[in-house]
Amino acid sequence: RPPNSQMEERCGLKRADCRAKGGAPGFKVAILGAAGGIGQPLAMLMKMNPLVSVLHLYDVVNAPGVTADISHMDTGAVVRGFLGQPQLESALTGMDLVIIPAGVPRKPGMTRDDLFKINAGIVRTLCEGVAKCCPNAIVNLISNPVNSTVPIAAEVFKKAGTYDPKRLLGVTMLDVVRANTFVAEVLGLDPREVDVPVVGGHAGVTILPLLSKVKPPSSFTPEETEYLTKRIQDGGTEVVQAKAGAGSATLSMAYAAVKFADACLRGLRGDAGVVECAFVASEVTELPFFATKVRLGRRGAEEVYQLGPLNEYERVGLEKAKKELAESIQKGISFIRK
Ligand code: NAD
Ligand code: LMR
Repeated sequence: RPPNSQMEERCGLKRADCRAKGGAPGFKVAILGAAGGIGQPLAMLMKMNPLVSVLHLYDVVNAPGVTADISHMDTGAVVRGFLGQPQLESALTGMDLVIIPAGVPRKPGMTRDDLFKINAGIVRTLCEGVAKCCPNAIVNLISNPVNSTVPIAAEVFKKAGTYDPKRLLGVTMLDVVRANTFVAEVLGLDPREVDVPVVGGHAGVTILPLLSKVKPPSSFTPEETEYLTKRIQDGGTEVVQAKAGAGSATLSMAYAAVKFADACLRGLRGDAGVVECAFVASEVTELPFFATKVRLGRRGAEEVYQLGPLNEYERVGLEKAKKELAESIQKGISFIRK
């Protein structure tokens, strides 16, 4: 039985409608790249999220298989699969949140920027679809290099006349997840009790953990600061090397993506005080995009928080981060404007 059969239409649509009519929170979420290493566990975790009423799974390969599999989970969300470019518009129409992990991952020896050649075009095509079919959706962009793909998405939306900077968020949550884990190890705490703001961007030195702002308030020796900063900045490379050619972080990324998507959905629902780090359009520095804490609300990133006072180590790190970020952002913008 094909996943979008008449029966699914009858039962599934009714179920989604009922939830909406009953006032139950139910958002429509699409995952683009849903059959990939991140996409599959991300789809599974989103199917378990009670805030999701409809889950659209789009990929250029294997979307029907992943959809059939996930759709057997006895949770509330109705799941539909979409395969290949001709089905992109159906996948996107009516969505509240679009999560994009489509694109190639790194192999050992590569930088995230080495992925630009392939992923820039993929992100452009998918964002053209978003602009056409769900221009008001919140977009969570995971595809690397995030420091360039977010500017690419912004330019595509500007061209289409649909750009709302609040609704476009580059996902840097994995840096925060790693920072919480590594800092908790050093402090001997449960990672769930630790909150580390990570600012800047999502590649090498652009990943800047602010250890002076760790909660609970903590102090670190210069050696601990150096060790933690490097480990957080190189977290992605640590996984790429350990996987030895079989890709990059997928499971921890799916966890981080769901943590972030859930925060976006709680914001959309109108919950107060939802604050997470993300790479967004920003006036915090002279750069047009920067990752900081943002407050998530009904319109997306409704407030972008300032950095606050930094220590000397962080000020030096910030200058390095800005230099590399400026180039990556410009590369993304030029890709569309050229
Ligand atoms: P993967 O190769 O396992 O999966 C990618 C999926 O994208 C595949 O299923 C592929 O078919 C699909 N795809 C390719 N072109 C597509 C298109 N035009 N439309 C729709 N789908 C398309 O890779 P992965 O491990 O899931 O990683 C995906 C991306 O996420 C990579 O660019 C990786 O670098 C990035 N990533 C980002 C973070 C982050 O923190 N932001 C973390 C980990 C990985
Ligand atoms: C990560 O941080 O794990 C991702 O950006 C993937 C990568 O290439 O490192």
